[in-house]
Amino acid sequence: MSIQQTAVVGAGTMGNGIAHVLALHGVSVTLIDVDADRLDAATDTIAQNLDRQVEKDRIAPDDKTATLDRVGTTTDQATGVADVDLVVEAVPEEQALKAEVFDALDAHAPADAILASNTSSISITWIAARTERPERVIGMHFFNPVPVMSLVEVVRGQRTTDATFEAVAGLSEELDKTPVEVEDYPGFVSNRVLMPMINEAIFCVMEGVAAPEDIDTVMTLGMNHPMGPLTLADFIGLDVCLHILTVLHEDLGEDKYRPCPLLRRKVTAGELGRKTGEGFFTYD
Ligand code: CAA
Repeated sequence: MSIQQTAVVGAGTMGNGIAHVLALHGVSVTLIDVDADRLDAATDTIAQNLDRQVEKDRIAPDDKTATLDRVGTTTDQATGVADVDLVVEAVPEEQALKAEVFDALDAHAPADAILASNTSSISITWIAARTERPERVIGMHFFNPVPVMSLVEVVRGQRTTDATFEAVAGLSEELDKTPVEVEDYPGFVSNRVLMPMINEAIFCVMEGVAAPEDIDTVMTLGMNHPMGPLTLADFIGLDVCLHILTVLHEDLGEDKYRPCPLLRRKVTAGELGRKTGEGFFTYD
């Protein structure tokens, strides 16, 4: 299946990054959000991130113009998905919101369109079971910053067909990403491995094993990670980390995923990381 026309629902950090890479690689994309201001902010962000790529000689100035020409925006989800081959949902990680969005997508997108979710923690099988097309529902999990990170976890729900998997894995390659096939279990691979490391780093802070900057230095200099786990937790959002750990803990039922009490305390206090200016570190 050739994917030419797409829509991305949700114009936050992940949604605008996904729209950026689709459009940069020649795919038309309609970015959909309930908030018109967020759509304006998202197109500004895409333009700024394309400028970075032009400045670094990664793309030509004409590529920027052509990319922006391929990005449309709308607040009307029904018309935005009326003529698409693929929709990628990237709304916040709330189960009720995902349910509402997928009910509408199933009603308004063409019957043969693929419905993908960028979820990092909600079951693809659960989302698919709400729709009339579970064989065409799949996880397409990108990583932040989307224009830079070259992985896509392609998550197969219980009823996802090979044709759907191959279409999405093929598109990921066209976007210059490496698709990795993953089965639908809590946290997939990425967050099942990453979040326990972040959680353990937070336990180290809580128990006074070392200062936050020193914990990060151990992992950047000792393990060659580009960011230490606490900087990365602030980058992802401490609320998002807590949510994913809670899903792992509840759905896998093992104490090893128990969220650190210090993580809960910081989230309760509104210290969510980079987006609020305060997490394990402070930001301007
Ligand atoms: N758009 C386009 N280009 C961008 C960009 C963006 N949004 N953000 C950064 N870049 C580019 C920069 O221009 C720069 O380009 P060059 O290599 O050509 O110079 C390059 O990316 C590196 O950026 P910086 O020099 O500003 O900074 P850096 O070297 O510290 O790299 C980073 C920044 C890429 C974020 C790096 O620190 C990193 O890889 N961190 C780890 C990120 C990570 O683990 N992400 C996954 C989070 S988990 C997730 O997303 C999913 C989930 O389910 C929770």
